[in-house]
Amino acid sequence: MDIKAGIIGVGSYVPENIVTNFDLEKIMDTSDEWIRTRTGISERRKVAEGEATSDTASKAALKALECAKLEPKDVDMIILATITPDSPLPATACIVQENIGAVNAAAFDLAAACSGFLYAMNIAKRFVESGAYKNVLIIGAETLSSVINYDDRSTAVLFGDGAGAAVISAVENGGILSITNGADGSGKDYLKIPAGGSRIKAGEESVKNKLHTVQMAGNDVFKFAVRKMADESVKAVEAANLTLEDIDFLIPHQANIRIIDSSAKRLKLEKDKVYVNLTRYGNMSSASVPVAMDEAFREGKLKKGDKVVLVGFGGGLTWGASVVEWSI
Ligand code: ACO
Repeated sequence: MDIKAGIIGVGSYVPENIVTNFDLEKIMDTSDEWIRTRTGISERRKVAEGEATSDTASKAALKALECAKLEPKDVDMIILATITPDSPLPATACIVQENIGAVNAAAFDLAAACSGFLYAMNIAKRFVESGAYKNVLIIGAETLSSVINYDDRSTAVLFGDGAGAAVISAVENGGILSITNGADGSGKDYLKIPAGGSRIKAGEESVKNKLHTVQMAGNDVFKFAVRKMADESVKAVEAANLTLEDIDFLIPHQANIRIIDSSAKRLKLEKDKVYVNLTRYGNMSSASVPVAMDEAFREGKLKKGDKVVLVGFGGGLTWGASVVEWSI
């Protein structure tokens, strides 16, 4: 019989330290009013001194395993989606593997920016449905505070730290009904951290010019996101042989409330059917979708059998969307 992959456990963790818009007003030329009206964000989380992506990722992972009623040794593979790894080598997924004691798991990192979790979910689905692995732990975790330029108000106010995780395994009913991923490298300059790799090596100049921090062409990303979020969601719904009327809930990437509202409108979903937590967390890149999914589930907003659209877009440019029939 064909194996059907689905989500059997979810978990998330956000750092305790809260940075409000009013805190940012004190260190840059911005205002709570501007940030809230242009983005919807009121506050975001920031890791404690010395806390890194593997720390938050490990906490989210253990919660997802608990939810799935699995032990760390049951995990066959860990895929960690991140653009803010602890360091370039080793893969942060390997540090998570050791932290949580997932001694039987293969582990690697995946870089697809804010779409990373949806890329990881697609890979996990294939591994489970091919029969190669039983349990794949996927994590989206970011410490974006480590790559923010506080002299650039157009990006510094947007991002936050956090981690979300899910366990993908065989399910009897429902599961991942469809999933799409895509990329367009011609938009590579819209969103980038220019230095620290093989093109511009880390050095005195790169640090002086703040090339290790996020640069973004906000308006270009905005236009792309408005179009892509809706188009990809519709594509995923069609690939699942469903219509928009069948969709119960939307969990979108949390970049900007105006982008989310326009996607919800295209999908004909009322506000109470769309999960929004960017008000509290800002944009956590690859962690946004899994943290939102975990919170929506724990708040009782996702019920067994619900058809849920997950959708993300981000640097690369990259994107991804999925229709999941909720099975927890
Ligand atoms: N506080 C006050 N004023 C500001 C701030 C700020 N924090 N930031 C920008 N401004 C000013 C600008 O300087 C500009 O002033 P000017 O008219 O005097 O030049 C004015 O506000 C308008 O700036 P715009 O950039 O046109 O503002 P816009 O309404 O487009 O909003 C924003 C900017 C919020 C960045 C929006 O473009 C956006 O959300 N883009 C998408 C971003 C996104 O989704 N990024 C994540 C991708 S996911 C990933 O992979 C990480």
